[in-house]
Amino acid sequence: MSNKRIVVLISGNGRNLQALIDACANGQIAGDIVGVISNKADAYGLERAKSAAIPSWVIPHQNFADRHSFDSALRTQIDQLKPDLVVLAGFMRILTDDFVRHYLGRMLNIHPSLLPKYPGLNTHQRALDAGDQQHGATVHFVTPELDAGPAVLQATLTINANDTAASLAQRVMEEVELSLYPSAVADYCADRVTLSAQPPYQAIRSNPVRSN
Ligand code: GRF
Repeated sequence: MSNKRIVVLISGNGRNLQALIDACANGQIAGDIVGVISNKADAYGLERAKSAAIPSWVIPHQNFADRHSFDSALRTQIDQLKPDLVVLAGFMRILTDDFVRHYLGRMLNIHPSLLPKYPGLNTHQRALDAGDQQHGATVHFVTPELDAGPAVLQATLTINANDTAASLAQRVMEEVELSLYPSAVADYCADRVTLSAQPPYQAIRSNPVRSN
């Protein structure tokens, strides 16, 4: 089986991108990151791509009149790279239905909550406000409904009495996300998980979803 071609979309720091670069380099992921695309020119993740000799592109969303024209330019660039998998790694744009359908079954996102809890923003504060004892992150297939696609992997941590939104953001990233995303992408690249062809969409895999 040949390595999968992976395109990663970012908007910021790129800590998840770095974890994926490292996991491709050490063989955990049977894949190659063939391109990184950012909608922000100052995203630090672009430096990480450069250091790893991965080609990168900036497509500034503000240069486009509307969501459709931005997504169309993004799709053109992605498709030139002939990806098997598109990975959203802190890519802070809502994508149009057409775009999502084009990559259905071959696009993953990581979200810092135990979906279906807390889709959208401010997940750490919302978990604290609700008095939750458990929090975590979810890697899921991207489907047209925001943050609602089926989970590929999910992992939890226990919220401490002194946690704040800031400490939780750091703990979820360091204790959960940086190992969860490489594991999920490794599963996809080894054909251990696929998306069902028809709605209601389900992640079909040989092992049940892990919950720690
Ligand atoms: C992560 O918390 C991820 O879950 C969310 O955006 C953040 C990205 O951070 N979607 P980074 O760019 O990977 O450092």
